[in-house]
Amino acid sequence: MFFASDNWAGAHPAINERLLRESTRFAAAYGTSDLDRAIERRFNEIFERDVAVFFVATGTAANSLALASLAKPGGVIFAHSEAHVIEDECGAPDFFSGMRICPVEGPRGKMDPKHLKNRISRYPQDAIHHGRATAVTMTQASEVGTIHTLDEIETLAAIAKEAGLPLHMDGARFANALVELDASPAEMTWKRGVDVLSFGGTKNGCWCAEAIVFFDPQMAKELPFLRKRSAQLFSKSRFIAAQFEAYLQDDLWLDLARHANAMANRLRAGLDASNSARQAWPTTSNEVFAVIPKATAKAAEDKGAKFYDWLEPHDMSEPVADGDMLIRLVTSFATEPQDVDAFLDVIAAG
Ligand SMILES: Cc1ncc(COP(=O)(O)O)c(C=O)c1O
Repeated sequence: MFFASDNWAGAHPAINERLLRESTRFAAAYGTSDLDRAIERRFNEIFERDVAVFFVATGTAANSLALASLAKPGGVIFAHSEAHVIEDECGAPDFFSGMRICPVEGPRGKMDPKHLKNRISRYPQDAIHHGRATAVTMTQASEVGTIHTLDEIETLAAIAKEAGLPLHMDGARFANALVELDASPAEMTWKRGVDVLSFGGTKNGCWCAEAIVFFDPQMAKELPFLRKRSAQLFSKSRFIAAQFEAYLQDDLWLDLARHANAMANRLRAGLDASNSARQAWPTTSNEVFAVIPKATAKAAEDKGAKFYDWLEPHDMSEPVADGDMLIRLVTSFATEPQDVDAFLDVIAAG
């Protein structure tokens, strides 16, 4: 009953097997091997255009370096007020980019377009004292389990473009959103105005594989230096490439995300049928938020269930009652239906 996070899961056997095969051969270091190059080309196929790809170790590194590559002195980045870049990266994006992040409110993990426009307008390009608007970052799937529609992505991109700003997408759970929208990677990104993507693999079956993807390679000129300077250029970078090779082969990544989302659907259905617990708000990816009695949460923990307590977001429509608590449940490629059913049984027993 591991629902704490999708990064609590192990690595998929196909990824492990590929790593094992890679470990027996010699190859050029620092991202220059044939395998690194081949997987970079594979990203071109996945995104249906020539992209510039940089492998890094963590999602925080991907976000921080992607934003650093867009930096200007006195720059301001706009992100949802509950975005991972603001709440969970210890200021790394600010540190590496040298910019500030301006929080933008919006319901259910999505920036409200009116608020975004308004916040951007407070930082004109010549406002030497305030700083200047420099980039917008959004998260797909969002931190609260929701997914931006293609039109919603396009709306945010249009606001960014109108102000001359690039749009970055934090895709730590890119695959979970993609399969839910039944869109192509190109449709969910550059075709709707995304300029730079943090492409996550770790949460969806890799051991440690994240990539920064630039849809205009011209924008990536500084990234090799930024990556090396931040100690993210792996000498054995080909082991990240090897993971991505297996991950992207025969649509494994999409199958794994479909499975994780299906397990979340099973959880959602169980919560909807429950008398004592409920979904805190509707979600569609592999994250589920539930309001359950504190005693039930304790009983579940005593039986070995792992999940996190969650702080009430500002737009929670029905407040959490005194005897209840808000928890986050995350499913992954490794979640078994029996895990979900066992958890739902504990909840039913109250
Ligand atoms: C939305 C989002 N972005 C980025 C990350 C990347 O985190 P890490 O640096 O732990 O790989 C996470 C991980 O929880 C996340 O949920």
